[in-house]
Amino acid sequence: MDRQAIEKAADDLRRRMPAPPGIGLILGSGLGVLADEIEEAVRIPYEDIPGFPVSTVEGHAGRLVYGRLEGATVVAMQGRFHYYEGYSLREVTFPVRVMKAIGVRELIVTNAAGGVNEQFRPGDLMIISDHINLLGTNPLIGPNDPELGPRFPDMTEAYSRRLRRLAKESAAKLGIRVHEGVYVANTGPSYETPAEIRMVRGLGGDAVGMSTVPEVIVARHAGMEVLGISCISNLAAGMTDAPLHHDEVVETAERVKADFLRLIKAVVAELAK
Ligand code: HPA
Repeated sequence: MDRQAIEKAADDLRRRMPAPPGIGLILGSGLGVLADEIEEAVRIPYEDIPGFPVSTVEGHAGRLVYGRLEGATVVAMQGRFHYYEGYSLREVTFPVRVMKAIGVRELIVTNAAGGVNEQFRPGDLMIISDHINLLGTNPLIGPNDPELGPRFPDMTEAYSRRLRRLAKESAAKLGIRVHEGVYVANTGPSYETPAEIRMVRGLGGDAVGMSTVPEVIVARHAGMEVLGISCISNLAAGMTDAPLHHDEVVETAERVKADFLRLIKAVVAELAK
């Protein structure tokens, strides 16, 4: 049943896409501007794709953008679905299944995240080396379709060593400072408490956010290679006296978007070679 829904959406998209996209991008809060750089763009609102949920949160546009970026054929999600919006994790990750079905092999996942590591500053970029799932659930719970992936997928190298190296090399060439660290997913929508942030730090987390982990689990289940990049939009709760606000998240993403764009484009250019 799932597979039928995936194929239906994929068939619809294949008709609109002259060539299969090899690279997929999921653009987080305030980072959707990357999709505006895509050339010969075909923009498809989520509501026009059969089976797609519809995005609701502010700062998220809600469409797929297909086209050419740095010599590669790509498809980008401008706006993603979050668990806290009330979607099931199957719904949150449906677009990843569809991306796989239309040919995506490498998935670049981005997000805005709170910095937990004391070395981080708002505006820093972090290449995700690994994650910790604190959602209390998993998108693969339920019957497994072996055509889509194995019952018990390996997560030893959820974030591709090759793509991490490529991203670090690209950042170094461009003179962009990047960290590497562990992303911890909470459900949100409330931000963490200071006690929760101390716990996350104790667990080995470097950044916290409300996305990415479900998509990455499904991408790995489907056998895609994943690169994750967090924009550290704020220091996590309790690290400064200031209360957290979504506007700050969007403003910081806005401020660092130039570096963010340069880095992602450089990585895509390398992958296109
Ligand atoms: N916590 C959780 N999610 C976030 C944060 C945060 O501090 N900043 C951006 N997304």
